[in-house]
Amino acid sequence: MCAPTSMCPPLALCLREGTQQSHSLAENTVLMKCLRNGLISAEPLRQWMASLYFVYSALELEMYNHADHPVIGRIYFPRLERTLQLENDLAFYYGDNWRRQIQPSRKTIRYVMRLHAIANDQPALLAAHAYVRYMGDLSGGQGLRAKIRSALKLPEGLGTAFYEFEGLPTAETRRAFKGVYRDALNQLPVDTQLATQLIEEANLAFKLNCDVMHELASQVKATVSEATWELITHENLPGSTAHLPPPIELVSA
Ligand code: HEM
Repeated sequence: MCAPTSMCPPLALCLREGTQQSHSLAENTVLMKCLRNGLISAEPLRQWMASLYFVYSALELEMYNHADHPVIGRIYFPRLERTLQLENDLAFYYGDNWRRQIQPSRKTIRYVMRLHAIANDQPALLAAHAYVRYMGDLSGGQGLRAKIRSALKLPEGLGTAFYEFEGLPTAETRRAFKGVYRDALNQLPVDTQLATQLIEEANLAFKLNCDVMHELASQVKATVSEATWELITHENLPGSTAHLPPPIELVSA
């Protein structure tokens, strides 16, 4: 694992290298494996989106509350906010009274509580949670969008607002923005100790996400055949962020 030292590589690179194993575990949850294989049905998907709604509501409220913080202010990009997008998707999947139909699962509550706790004790660590969610949504999430649309045969313009970023409609614009985001990470005023804590917190953020996804495994199982379930649960995919060459902006930073 990348351990920041006084000769520390850029923080964005430390975060990527320091979370490779966690990323691989997240990709190997059954929910993710089913999604990338186009095997998802609406029930587990809408429950997952409901969980994400609670998580993003908390994350984005706390990022907003700490927008003047010396670390958070530099990594606060309101254009990335997902709460409203998730509200649109939940209205599509649950109907107009979606708010009365959803409630946070046990692991979702734990995730949300962690966000409020660090916002209270050490707000700089919110940067790790923002990194894990937003960079994921802008990366592998984009491939999942297409899989969801075709698996559920979604009507034009509905059901995947979560993966749509205003002003970032193409792979090129998203790639460029990820460069901007990594530059912002690299310029955060963090010392070695805080950098180490951020990597630890990013790994915890991945774990909290995995826990939420694991809770949905039985829902997923109910929607696929036994043979598919066997195949999916025994498949071990290599992590997408392992062995990636450093992006150009990380080399030149
Ligand atoms: C099927 C599931 C997934 C696939 C196929 C996938 C794929 C990828 C790929 C290919 C990249 C590299 C993009 C690039 O360098 O431009 C990436 C980056 C990333 N993903 Fe995922 N991902 C998945 C799930 C997740 C999940 C569930 C999370 C978070 C909970 C996540 C968080 C991230 C983050 C934070 C990065 C940025 C790594 C960096 O610092 O460069 N991913 N993902």
